[in-house]
Amino acid sequence: MLPVLFLIIPCLVMSYLMWLYKKLFLKPVSVHGKIVLITGASSGLGEACAKKFSFEGAKVILCARNIDELKRVKNEICNNEDNVWPVINQLDITNPNDIIQCEQNIRNNFGGIDILISNAGMSQRGSVIDTTDDVYTNLMNVNFFGPVRLIKAFLPAMLLKKQGHIISIGSVQSLIAIPFRAAYSASKHANNAFFDSLRAEVADDNVNVTTVNPGYIHTNLSINALSPDGKKHGVMDKSTLSGMDPSLVACAIYDSVVYPNNELNLADLKSKFAIDIRTLFPSAYFMIMKLRARSEKKSMKKSL
Ligand SMILES: NC(=O)c1ccc[n+]([C@@H]2O[C@H](COP(=O)([O-])OP(=O)(O)OC[C@H]3O[C@@H](n4cnc5c(N)ncnc54)[C@H](OP(=O)(O)O)[C@@H]3O)[C@@H](O)[C@H]2O)c1
Repeated sequence: MLPVLFLIIPCLVMSYLMWLYKKLFLKPVSVHGKIVLITGASSGLGEACAKKFSFEGAKVILCARNIDELKRVKNEICNNEDNVWPVINQLDITNPNDIIQCEQNIRNNFGGIDILISNAGMSQRGSVIDTTDDVYTNLMNVNFFGPVRLIKAFLPAMLLKKQGHIISIGSVQSLIAIPFRAAYSASKHANNAFFDSLRAEVADDNVNVTTVNPGYIHTNLSINALSPDGKKHGVMDKSTLSGMDPSLVACAIYDSVVYPNNELNLADLKSKFAIDIRTLFPSAYFMIMKLRARSEKKSMKKSL
């Protein structure tokens, strides 16, 4: 218990001091009138971000594949399909041409973007051995290569203007891997490393990069996750059902733009503790994960 307190109390004190410093000494950045592009804006966290940034006066560009859902989100935001904002841009993040076209449209019509929220993502369920190559490829395309292409398309204009903010939505699984999510964890780790490298490269050009690593959020992520054979998992997992409200996560993301920071780990104490254990006592972490895998295997056998 004592070592736990030694870890938690300094963390809480540090967080409070950081919060106080921000509120007292940093000038808040206004998003009013700024152009914000959000991928994966047709549901869940992306939708919540679209609503929050629109509410705060930003001009939001909603991107995803499902045009009907994008229209629904637009209607819920402005109640009028004829309004220019928020703008809808149908985009499949795995299609390089869609990204090029999207960037050109936005440059021609609005002169570029100020804030990019790279949020589109997909999860997966299943063992390493059962998961097909197509599922690994799909996950890497959506969670890693898509965001890489997005950045390569939109970053040059930000560098030219010497202004911009990029938010990457990762996951606790960008920092620690858990069993039966190898493809998801690997793609999110890759994503996180990419944005950590990018942050340092563009810092002198006044472009901020924030990586957001949330724990479970109550969205359709587990329903939309891929099974080992590539079909939809189609189940609302208990952990996702009891996850954070997406609108609260969106508020924290908004705060990261108003008071720019490098990283936002939005997890419960258990997940934060797991991240610390992975760093400080890796052997203990590996043992805990072995036990977790064993217990998941048992419950899978029971459900057969
Ligand atoms: N929910 C959680 O527990 C949790 C925890 C940590 C991190 N996250 C991360 O949060 C982000 C948002 O997920 P969510 O929880 O809001 O799940 P969600 O409700 O399933 O939303 C996923 C979004 O990604 C979009 N998307 C998926 N594939 C796409 C593609 N090929 N091209 C363009 N858009 C695509 C979907 O839109 P279309 O289907 O219309 O294309 C949808 O809008 C993801 O990056 C996820 O990894 C979620």
